[in-house]
Amino acid sequence: MLKCVLLIASLVTSSLAVKKIPDHFLLGTGTSAFQVEGAWNEGGKGPSLWDTYLHNQNATENGDVACDSYHKWQEDVANAKALGLDFYRFSISWPRILPNGTLNNINQEGIDYYLNLIQALKAENIEPMVTIYHWDMPQHIYELGGFLNPQFVDYFEDFSRLVYKLYGSYIKYWLTFNEPSLICQGGYGMGIMAPGLLLNGDGIYQCGYVLLKAHARAYRVYDEEFRAQYNGQVGLVVNFQWAEPASNSTLDLEAQERYTEFELGFWVNPIYLGNWPQVMIDRISNRSKLEGLSRSRLPSFTQEEIEYINGTHDFFAINTYGVYQVKYAPEPAISYPSYTFDLGVDIVNDTTYYNPKGVRDMVNYISQKYQPNGIIITENGKPSEDTLEDMDRINLIRDYLGNLIDALVEDKVNVFGYSIWSLMDNFEWGSYKSKFGIIRVDFDSPNRTRTWKESAKWYQNVIATRILDDA
Ligand SMILES: *[C@@H]1O[C@H](CO)[C@@H](O)[C@H](O)[C@H]1NC(C)=O
Ligand SMILES: *[C@@H]1O[C@H](CO)[C@@H](O)[C@H](O)[C@H]1NC(C)=O
Ligand SMILES: *[C@@H]1O[C@H](CO)[C@@H](O)[C@H](O)[C@H]1NC(C)=O
Ligand SMILES: *[C@@H]1O[C@H](CO)[C@@H](O)[C@H](O)[C@H]1NC(C)=O
Ligand SMILES: *[C@@H]1O[C@H](CO)[C@@H](O)[C@H](O)[C@H]1NC(C)=O
Ligand SMILES: *[C@@H]1O[C@H](CO)[C@@H](O)[C@H](O)[C@H]1NC(C)=O
Ligand SMILES: *[C@@H]1O[C@H](CO)[C@@H](O)[C@H](O)[C@H]1NC(C)=O
Repeated sequence: MLKCVLLIASLVTSSLAVKKIPDHFLLGTGTSAFQVEGAWNEGGKGPSLWDTYLHNQNATENGDVACDSYHKWQEDVANAKALGLDFYRFSISWPRILPNGTLNNINQEGIDYYLNLIQALKAENIEPMVTIYHWDMPQHIYELGGFLNPQFVDYFEDFSRLVYKLYGSYIKYWLTFNEPSLICQGGYGMGIMAPGLLLNGDGIYQCGYVLLKAHARAYRVYDEEFRAQYNGQVGLVVNFQWAEPASNSTLDLEAQERYTEFELGFWVNPIYLGNWPQVMIDRISNRSKLEGLSRSRLPSFTQEEIEYINGTHDFFAINTYGVYQVKYAPEPAISYPSYTFDLGVDIVNDTTYYNPKGVRDMVNYISQKYQPNGIIITENGKPSEDTLEDMDRINLIRDYLGNLIDALVEDKVNVFGYSIWSLMDNFEWGSYKSKFGIIRVDFDSPNRTRTWKESAKWYQNVIATRILDDA
């Protein structure tokens, strides 16, 4: 009732309390293979880096069963349909299709799994948005060096070409890598994700160097061999939390700029502008020299590589969860090599998930600096308690989405879509305790029973009405 009154009031007074979501704006949800599929050793699948990593640690929670979407995908599609999603973002498990990561062993059962999923989505008029790499590298490719092996680029080329060939006729939106900064910082720098390496001063940059070249190769393969026929789009998904400066002092504004270059420009500048940000090149080179190294810990792209990587984007995909505050910090003393010292700003962690205005600033910044053809928020959301009454999630999504619509309508930023992470509670890379889903999954039941939360009902209504209500 209150909603009706508000709606009428807004129509009459044109207050901004209620926002109309333009019809062409895409609303979706996402998942990834390792986090939902389970069936880790079924159907001809090979082991992934994450399977092995968690098994070797004897982790009490792992991805062996997850949401059991390998068997329950039809229920997932039915939920996506009932929600009315414009698109559903999911990833293809590389070792499910290529058990060893290489083309000498192709697993038809894995191919069929994704074909069935994609066709079922298309039949319901839901656009499949496919992430080619969402962290579950074939164990064999990892043993060959993973992102520290320059030949990774060739392995990824083979896998990408194969999935374009298999599914390209159905797919409009391809995403090469999900969250390179978490792959390289989390996995190869800070050791908090698989493979758990602590190479915070150099491995992280080596990983970035190889990953960006692999992204570019996969983009070029699509461009040269598939675009004419299928006319799809290819992009990289970066993760980035916007940061506001603690004050407007020159030093804090500089800290904000440096933070943004290290956290976002690291991945985006090579693709949109050519090469890494100058501040990274200069600072890492300077600090490397002072540490006694003969060359920078940040590899240099050759001119040929710069040109090859530059321009490998059709749209700008970004995952974002919070907004930080950053401020100036004195130059860290020279000691061991470290990304954190290279960055050298103070990240004040007073972020709450409720600083939604930041997302509007963020897309304005991206639009001005990189001038992408279009921006899509491929992940946003929050973990909440294991409850069906997840009002906190509804509030967060309303605020973020509202700010994006403001950016689109008022600031004329070309944002074309938004995706909630996640369609359902899933395996959050180490634990089932972080509940990000708009649909609850009962991990205690062998059935992995799905139950809609309040947020799912709310999102269903938003999609159906294209109206963002004011609480
Ligand atoms: C995991 O369990 C195996 C077999 O009991 C044991 O050999 C190994 O040391 C354990 N690994 C860790 C990291 O605890
Ligand atoms: C896959 O890799 C494993 C381990 O490296 C090896 O034993 C096996 O022979 C490989 N299989 C194929 C088909 O390459
Ligand atoms: C910095 O200046 C902007 C624009 O004048 C203002 O909106 C903002 O509140 C200021 N930020 C701080 C932290 O003072
Ligand atoms: C990268 O591409 C953009 C857009 O085409 C161009 O303006 C820029 O000069 C290129 N950068 C380099 C370093 O070649
Ligand atoms: C790097 O070192 C040079 C020479 O000492 C100095 O002029 C420059 O300001 C330094 N740049 C950065 C970003 O630290
Ligand atoms: C930073 O986060 C920790 C853990 O959530 C919290 O205990 C601490 O108070 C936070 N610090 C600031 C300055 O917000
Ligand atoms: C699982 O599903 C089956 C078939 O619908 C049903 O018979 C069974 O009771 C369910 N088990 C649990 C634990 O929910």
